[in-house]
Amino acid sequence: MTAPRPDGRTAPGAGRTEPPAALPPADVPPGPVIAGPTSDGARPKSPAGVATLDDARTEPSTDHPQFDRPPSDGARPQSAADRPEAEADRPQSDCLIVGAGLIGASIGLALTQAGRAVHLLDADPELAAAAAALGAGRPWRPQDGADIGLVVVAVPPILLAPVAAEQLDRFPRATVTDVGSVKGPVLAELVALGADIGRYVGSHPMAGSHRSGPLGARADLFAGRVWVVAPPQPEDYARTAAVEALARACGARPVIMSAAEHDVAVAQVSHLPQLISSLLAGRLNAVPHQHLALAGPGMRDVTRIAQSDPELWGQIVSLNQAAVRSELEAVQADLAALIAQLDQPTAVRRVVERGRAGVMALPGKHGHRLGQAWEPVVVEIPDRPGALADIFATVALAQANVEDVAIEHDPKREVGYLTLLVDGPTAAARLGAAMVTAGWRLRP
Ligand SMILES: NC(=O)c1ccc[n+]([C@@H]2O[C@H](COP(=O)([O-])OP(=O)(O)OC[C@H]3O[C@@H](n4cnc5c(N)ncnc54)[C@H](O)[C@@H]3O)[C@@H](O)[C@H]2O)c1
Repeated sequence: MTAPRPDGRTAPGAGRTEPPAALPPADVPPGPVIAGPTSDGARPKSPAGVATLDDARTEPSTDHPQFDRPPSDGARPQSAADRPEAEADRPQSDCLIVGAGLIGASIGLALTQAGRAVHLLDADPELAAAAAALGAGRPWRPQDGADIGLVVVAVPPILLAPVAAEQLDRFPRATVTDVGSVKGPVLAELVALGADIGRYVGSHPMAGSHRSGPLGARADLFAGRVWVVAPPQPEDYARTAAVEALARACGARPVIMSAAEHDVAVAQVSHLPQLISSLLAGRLNAVPHQHLALAGPGMRDVTRIAQSDPELWGQIVSLNQAAVRSELEAVQADLAALIAQLDQPTAVRRVVERGRAGVMALPGKHGHRLGQAWEPVVVEIPDRPGALADIFATVALAQANVEDVAIEHDPKREVGYLTLLVDGPTAAARLGAAMVTAGWRLRP
């Protein structure tokens, strides 16, 4: 059943909804591959069971309070897929992924597993072939153009706008999205290029890896993760729904927000942490070897993301410099205040207390705030093969619902500690008793 659209046009319905009005010339590839400038002259760095798109359309809308903006009338925003105008019956058109790197090949793997036909185009045909060999789709052939209904642009950040503009031009009826880590500057550049932004919907899967290229790709890379959908024209429900369906088909949870708000949010929760981790890890270059030997898991925790790709991050941070600058200046002010008060234990304590509160503010599993209601049960892991499996077997026998786990090692003894987080003090007491009864030692 096809519902009327607010603009009077026929909503996508039982028939094919996005047929290319004019097919791309059969002998022309989808636009010249725009050369990828890299700072070092090297070639651009190279690069993942899942519901079907149809299944995804029947899923309820996903609202994420931490990202959704209330609309001006104060009502909760709807997912485009919830609206009657959404292309609920839209048949599956082919998808072209431009940039078969980590993200492009991961999307290709997920979509292929969801049953969608995927074509792969990369500036380096060997990388497209490598992604295809992994099962992410098949390398693009010019004669494949007729069925392209969705183009996903997954090239390095500074190339997103020109490549997206090229694809909008090449496929005059297709919806074009990009997966770039910064949204506002891409949209602004598309406007400056005179691109048909009526068919463009920006997006950003909030998942990734420090690896790049198709060999790092995974079909489940986006499973359970937020995928921001940033339509320049939110009233174009069908285009927005197509990108939401893409996110769901990859196992992610689409969240609609403006490009500007996205850029501020990622500066706060992604770009600032990356830079702080890199700065901290950079300090290690000046630390004597014998001092590095004392580093424990804490140091590893805070420097894990410092292994990220420098070329990619150079581009991301430069594109999002306004929002990142404001976050860095706030940290600069905090640092200056801390340095000025290092001799005052209460001032230092306040810094640590504020950090603890900040960790609690992070949403955890099922939207819990971390530490909000969960209680830890810390079990000593003996240094013998199979000990961890035996502990989990006891947990299963106790029928405990474990919300999260963490492992740490005792630097002085040949043991580790398994922290089991359960839902509240009662559950913790019950699990603790079961563990002790079964002979395990608990850390107080
Ligand atoms: N890596 C992450 O963690 C992550 C997470 C979310 C979003 N993103 C975004 O995804 C995009 C791709 O990142 P990635 O990590 O997959 O990078 P990647 O280097 O692994 O892949 C990029 C691919 O694009 C290809 N390419 C370059 N120029 C091209 C062109 N003109 N035409 C066709 N192909 C071209 C490269 O050869 C490469 O294979 C970036 O815009 C990034 O902001 C990355």
